Amino acid sequence: MARKRVLITGGAGFIGSHLADELLARGYRVRALDSLIPQVHGDARSRPGYLAADVELIRGDVRDRRAVERALKRVDAVFHLAAGVGAGRSIQDIAHCSSVNDFGTAVLLEAVVRKPVEKLVVASSTSVYGEGLYRTPEGRIVEAEERPLSQLQAGRWEPCGPEGEPLEPIPTPETKSPSLGSISALVKHHQERLCLMVGRAHAIPTVALRFSNVYGPRQALGNPDGGMLATFASRLLAGNAPIIFEDGLQQRDLVNVHDVVRACRLTLESAVAGGRVFNVGSGSSMTVRAAAAQMAEALGRRELRPQITGQYREGDVRHSVADTTLAAKALGYEARVSFTEGLLELAEWLARQRDRHELAGIGARLEARG
Ligand SMILES: NC(=O)c1ccc[n+]([C@@H]2O[C@H](COP(=O)([O-])OP(=O)(O)OC[C@H]3O[C@@H](n4cnc5c(N)ncnc54)[C@H](O)[C@@H]3O)[C@@H](O)[C@H]2O)c1
Repeated sequence: MARKRVLITGGAGFIGSHLADELLARGYRVRALDSLIPQVHGDARSRPGYLAADVELIRGDVRDRRAVERALKRVDAVFHLAAGVGAGRSIQDIAHCSSVNDFGTAVLLEAVVRKPVEKLVVASSTSVYGEGLYRTPEGRIVEAEERPLSQLQAGRWEPCGPEGEPLEPIPTPETKSPSLGSISALVKHHQERLCLMVGRAHAIPTVALRFSNVYGPRQALGNPDGGMLATFASRLLAGNAPIIFEDGLQQRDLVNVHDVVRACRLTLESAVAGGRVFNVGSGSSMTVRAAAAQMAEALGRRELRPQITGQYREGDVRHSVADTTLAAKALGYEARVSFTEGLLELAEWLARQRDRHELAGIGARLEARG
């Protein structure tokens, strides 16, 4: 039987390149459509050394109809990962972010409709929940509102219930209604709805995977919109303390990239995933402060204690923890990589990057972009 060919848009990026490894190891052919943006690939915009040699790389923009049509030739399934990434960037560069995410997705969908595939999987984000679910002291489950500006200005970080009561964060399932408090959440939600809608109308099994905070080797360093751990690592390697907003006790769900790409592959191979949305997280959470301290420890820079600024960022949620029960039941997904193991692998990779050119000037670049 002929090996199936899978197209990954954004396939030269962090998650895309790991997904390529996962699929190649399972016998798929892999093609990547990637424009190699400088924020991720540096000014040279050359094929990244970490991208498996067996990946057929088409350099092109997902907004370019001809490039997309070329990329779709003889393809059986598509993972749509190309995106103008990051909450920070999307605030500063609204037109670009919405162009890549909205228009790029529309171009891809029109091409897929003309040339249907067996499965289309779009990368979404748990950021679409805004503040997730919380439990009141009486045990009631409530959806917390976005924290008012006046509350943040007063440095009161925890979301409160309708009567001002304290709330305890709990894992958020897919059934929670979206609360789109940042531009990146807004465009991600639009992107996933558009894919699911068009997939349904044209009987193309389409799935949206909502990733929580993904970390692991190959995540772009020095990109202010990169992952949280990559940003901490960039500062630590440049001899600076990680900078933390609010009081550092906000919780995040840090999921390892190897778990994420396994979830992607399980989705591809599932007969029941079509038309559905799944959270892909680690199933647990940790405070940002603890994550920064462990990153410093892993890099041998324990003395660079996190700098807690007490400042806030517009659009940040207080706590974010994904409920992965649905993915466990429907896809057989569970996170397998512990944070300790994942951090060790990341620290080893970072150590190998230490002497390489891409680390030069990272601190300065991050400072320059605020
Ligand atoms: N990393 C995370 O924590 C996280 C969390 C939630 C969702 N996601 C989503 O997962 C997907 C992959 O994220 P990632 O962390 O691997 O990002 P990444 O920046 O490492 O990879 C994205 C890739 O897309 C390419 N790209 C950007 N614009 C393009 C365009 N117009 N045409 C073609 N290629 C383009 C880039 O060159 C890059 O290689 C994105 O859709 C992102 O929104 C990521």
